Amino acid sequence: MAQFYSAKRRVTTSQKITVTVNDLDPFGQGVARHNGKALFIPALLPGETAEIVLKEDKRQFARGEVKRRLNDSPERVLPQCPHFGMCGGCQQQHASVALQQRSKSAALARLMKHEVNDVIAGEPWAYRRRARLSLSWQPKTQQLDMGFRHAGGSEIVNIRQCPVLVRRLEALLVPLRECLTQLKAARHLGHVELVDADNGPLMVLRHTGALSSADKEKLEQFSHSHDLALYLAPQSEILEHVNGETPWYSSDGLRLTFSPRDFIQVNDRVNQQMVARALAWLDVQPGDRVLDLFCGMGNFTLPLAKYAASVVGVEGVAGLVAKAQENAQKNGLQNVTFFHENLEEDVTKQPWASRGFDKILLDPARAGAGGVMQHIIKLSPARVVYVSCNPATLARDSEALLNAGYQIQQLAMLDMFPHTGHLESMVLFVDHQ
Ligand SMILES: C[S@@+](CC[C@H](N)C(=O)[O-])C[C@H]1O[C@@H](n2cnc3c(N)ncnc32)[C@H](O)[C@@H]1O
Repeated sequence: MAQFYSAKRRVTTSQKITVTVNDLDPFGQGVARHNGKALFIPALLPGETAEIVLKEDKRQFARGEVKRRLNDSPERVLPQCPHFGMCGGCQQQHASVALQQRSKSAALARLMKHEVNDVIAGEPWAYRRRARLSLSWQPKTQQLDMGFRHAGGSEIVNIRQCPVLVRRLEALLVPLRECLTQLKAARHLGHVELVDADNGPLMVLRHTGALSSADKEKLEQFSHSHDLALYLAPQSEILEHVNGETPWYSSDGLRLTFSPRDFIQVNDRVNQQMVARALAWLDVQPGDRVLDLFCGMGNFTLPLAKYAASVVGVEGVAGLVAKAQENAQKNGLQNVTFFHENLEEDVTKQPWASRGFDKILLDPARAGAGGVMQHIIKLSPARVVYVSCNPATLARDSEALLNAGYQIQQLAMLDMFPHTGHLESMVLFVDHQ
């Protein structure tokens, strides 16, 4: 039996062991018990037994790799994408959607120490309305690679299909790569972003070398023949709008325009349900003063303003604040005010913080909202809705509310990114003191 030591792995052996998986973690890895600790094995589902080898063996947990699977779970399904397993975009197309939702809900319930009352889901395929594809010229093969990073590596997996992308974007993949390959500047392209706005798709091409007029003409022809708005990004901070309409999407019937690189919720159907659920959970009344923290370009703020007396949105990116203000004006909403502030700094000195609020919504990035939780408690809102893209920081931040006398009244798993390891959720906290 070969055995060696490395900094990363405590002990690695090439010995095969037979294990049975009894759980699926939210990242799509099978979980078994081995030597009294959790053993994570990608590509295995609960109830499946396999011969595996250990790839990593740490004090708290181990990782294994399947050598031979001895049976199939009834919840094993055929992955729809030919690139699954190579491409790092999806981690669990081999598991039924019901199993994915159950395992994500169970992980959320464990972290939150509360049952999941609700699963908010849309279609499990063709749901992504934005994607950023890496581009890299390969001198050996003289071809342009276009796709996502390899699972566990940095090389690009060329993709011809991507069934989680909305159909209008997926249909662009093959012709777009052909078009970009023909450019003189094909060796000097960084990435391409595709976004499916409600008024049509758009693309942003990041190029690191100058584009000749012939290249520009080819790109314009492509954009016209595919009804695609075209933006060029010669530098990471610069965006040239070449043609097409300014993009917009709908949130609770309002039209929100955005700049192609702005954060927008990726799954439109889940977003629409999430906004509706937030409005219902906050039980917004005509006299309510509502606060929306980490408000982006007003995805929740502007719908809230339709029903509340007043709404304040706070956001750290100046461009998003400007868009939010523009959208409030375009939608005729005069009871909404936006502040450009960093919510990781001392918020007590920020101008919004001295106002009173009856209800609060927050939707932070993965780092959570550690810097603002104590101030939320001080504001003493009757209801708090926390929308989260990271259950670990959600659980941490929830402690502050629970310790202050709030109780969880609703906990929903948002199936925002089926087939991936992302776990999003939303919680309603109600003041019970
Ligand atoms: C998950 S997004 C949600 C945006 C918006 N609620 C939506 O639904 O589109 C999180 C937002 O928090 C903002 N953000 C991240 N860190 C921040 C900070 N320290 N202070 C203020 N805003 C921050 C990001 O710019 C982003 O717009």
